[in-house]
Amino acid sequence: MSSEHRVSLEKLGRRPEAGDTLGRPLRDLRISVMDRCNFRCPYCMPRETFHEGYRFLPAASRLSFEEITRLARLFVALGVRKLRLTGGEPLLRQGIADLVGELSALPGVEDLALTTNGVLLAQHAAELKANGLTRVTVSLDSLDPATFRRMSGGFDGLERVLDGITAAREAGLAPIKINAVVQRGVNEDSVLGLVEHFRGSGVIVRFIEYMDVGNRNHWEPARVVPSRELKERIETRWPLVPAATNYRGEVAERYLFADGAGEVGFISSVSQPFCGDCTRARLSSEGVLYTCLFATQGTDLRALLRGGADDAAVLERIGATWRGRVDRYSELRQALREQQPAAKIEMFYIGG
Ligand code: GTP
Ligand code: 5AD
Ligand code: SF4
Ligand code: SF4
Repeated sequence: MSSEHRVSLEKLGRRPEAGDTLGRPLRDLRISVMDRCNFRCPYCMPRETFHEGYRFLPAASRLSFEEITRLARLFVALGVRKLRLTGGEPLLRQGIADLVGELSALPGVEDLALTTNGVLLAQHAAELKANGLTRVTVSLDSLDPATFRRMSGGFDGLERVLDGITAAREAGLAPIKINAVVQRGVNEDSVLGLVEHFRGSGVIVRFIEYMDVGNRNHWEPARVVPSRELKERIETRWPLVPAATNYRGEVAERYLFADGAGEVGFISSVSQPFCGDCTRARLSSEGVLYTCLFATQGTDLRALLRGGADDAAVLERIGATWRGRVDRYSELRQALREQQPAAKIEMFYIGG
């Protein structure tokens, strides 16, 4: 960025946004740094669409680290305290640890996390930690090699993912969380195995209800396993005690193992929507701001940046977008699905 556009935030003043149309403040920014992924999970990037001929974004379309850092700094001025780097697969972005270094140095950032499929984590964990990453969340849907293979779209990477988790633990990227998407008839029988494996290790497993993100995963309600059902199954073997939320708007419902072996979480956006407390904004790798995971349109911040807008103008655009926000897709899912729906953004593009 040309430095004449950079106004000091002290001069602009900190002006956290009061909230959107439903009074929800802006607190989290999820930044997708890479639209590509080395997996082809059928619920996210089904191979039938994302084959070798699929055209991902050219590198020049992606925000540079400088652009990302500039935007992050402005989001922090508007009230964001938590940053999460996502993809596609964020560890495919060249130099990702350098970006972590820049973001972790921003005053006001209290939590800097990264969501990864874990395959490249072993080689990056120590450098990410050294550059200021707080913690990682690893997507892992099964410990059964055949089911893992099926859910990752044919990838034999289970051992590498487990090595990545070990490396992250050794590096001190704590707490490590595991996100497992559960699909009826696909990996529901992997749930107890995941709990058993990670119980007592300090790694927190969270089960996510399969969602109708994007337009290409052939979602149907029958494929969702409600969290209540999973909780009952887990409880028959390991009694659970409800735990308090860590912060307002926490996505996962947390339970402690009664025997003290840690916790397990459930993310139930289908059976128990949590839009009322949703404080999350999402930035795509090409710089489009979305205010919902199920959005059909966004606000192009890259055009502003590359058009030479100064900080005040960018802040104003972000603030206006947030103030006008009405999203609550999960609460309205059924009605919205029945309408003639516009195409939603894809999960790999916005990072979950
Ligand atoms: P923590 O900071 O560790 O609590 O992270 P988090 O709870 O935000 O979890 P994470 O970022 O790992 O998100 C886990 C998954 O929950 C995502 O991959 C999505 O599948 C789902 N999820 C997260 N945020 C939202 C949201 O705003 N709406 C919906 N519908 N689902 C979400
Ligand atoms: N439903 C629920 N979770 C999903 N994820 C990707 N697609 C879906 C879906 N359709 C999750 C991944 C990963 C995160 C980025 O989003 O498992 O943990
Ligand atoms: Fe890649 Fe994650 Fe999507 Fe799987 S869910 S294809 S690992 S971005
Ligand atoms: Fe937030 Fe949209 Fe998810 Fe609701 S559906 S919690 S508004 S991202």
